Amino acid sequence: MLKGKKILVGVCGSIAAYKIATLVRLLIKQEAEVQVIMTDAASDFISPLTLATLSKNPVLTRYVADDNTGEWSNHVALGLWADLMVIAPATANTIAKIAHGHCDNLLTAVYLSARSPVVLAPAMDLDMWLHPATQRNISQLQADGCQIISPGEGELASGLHGKGRMAEPEQMAEWIATFFSAGRPLAGKNVLLTAGPTIEPIDPVRYITNHSTGKMGYALAQAFADAGAQVNLISGPVALQLEHPSVQITHVQTARQMHEAVTTRTATADIIVHCAAVADYAPAHAATQKIKKQGDKLTIELVKNPDIAADTGQKLQAGQVHAGFALETENEQAHAQSKMERKNFDLIVLNSLNDAGAGFGHDTNRVSLLFREGKREVLPLLPKSEVARIIVRHLTNILQAKSHVV
Ligand code: C5P
Repeated sequence: MLKGKKILVGVCGSIAAYKIATLVRLLIKQEAEVQVIMTDAASDFISPLTLATLSKNPVLTRYVADDNTGEWSNHVALGLWADLMVIAPATANTIAKIAHGHCDNLLTAVYLSARSPVVLAPAMDLDMWLHPATQRNISQLQADGCQIISPGEGELASGLHGKGRMAEPEQMAEWIATFFSAGRPLAGKNVLLTAGPTIEPIDPVRYITNHSTGKMGYALAQAFADAGAQVNLISGPVALQLEHPSVQITHVQTARQMHEAVTTRTATADIIVHCAAVADYAPAHAATQKIKKQGDKLTIELVKNPDIAADTGQKLQAGQVHAGFALETENEQAHAQSKMERKNFDLIVLNSLNDAGAGFGHDTNRVSLLFREGKREVLPLLPKSEVARIIVRHLTNILQAKSHVV
């Protein structure tokens, strides 16, 4: 499947480096041409001889060979050779370096020279992964056009349990095969998506929320990733799991946290979709202690939450696609239309609670799509995965139309 594809594999110093032998083997089996670059630290974890034998090419570690032959590795030529550069395992250190344009070894210099797309498979301990510095660097690299194969959850070499395990070689090989296959109209594009409910604390044990399960938003995340996009999913609390190498999930609880998570990622997104059922109001003050039962009445003062979609709609840059959902119980069309204008959407998906099998918690949905220019498409009752696929197709078309105009 990868016949003749030139793949440059950059290996950094992490215990996950031992899995790269399997990745190289899988790529060679699919008839790719593979060259491996290793950092010094990487060779503490896996022998260059192993990767040279499997890749059928000498492993490159330095600008100049150690053996006095005067041979040197031309980082510019390597950067031009590759159809794809895969940095795996990508350590926190190398991620930080390339996010800032450092090039103090062959791998980082080739990264700077590469004209090909670059994909990173991070591997590190969970606290290193969650550290704001690492997350900032990852966002920067995504903004620079890198794709990320998200680390998985599980037992880490430190003995801790959490996120940070490098994706398995089979998963990476599949990602690479999909990357080179057709039918990925959103390859290289970033999608920002909200999903699920928000919860607004009243006190440490109680909160205000709604019935959203996140099923529609998670189906959209899957459909966007299947179309080749890199997806940033900002999710309220839901009981769903989604493990996809191209989907990065940020978990939030309140509307304000969701607003912040969206705001920091808006500038780098090509498509932004608001699917979350965001609470419109939150208690003005969450009590620090459990509120005691007293009297016949209890009044909780609520204050308005930020409207994330409306705020994003005001900050859009040329070429960005903006879409949202509306759930109406009366005057559906008119309300959805005015929402589309107020929030500066290109497309609004109208859910109706009046339809059996549609809305909260169901695996099916019946929606209408309203487009900015006034077109309307009414869909039949369909599985949410199919609704998601249709929405992704329309948003892809809108993105392509905008990019022709820009
Ligand atoms: O105004 P309404 O809540 O009906 O609008 C629904 C759309 O706006 C959805 O796309 C929802 O995700 C988004 N929204 C938001 N922030 C809010 C309220 C709604 O992003 N505070």
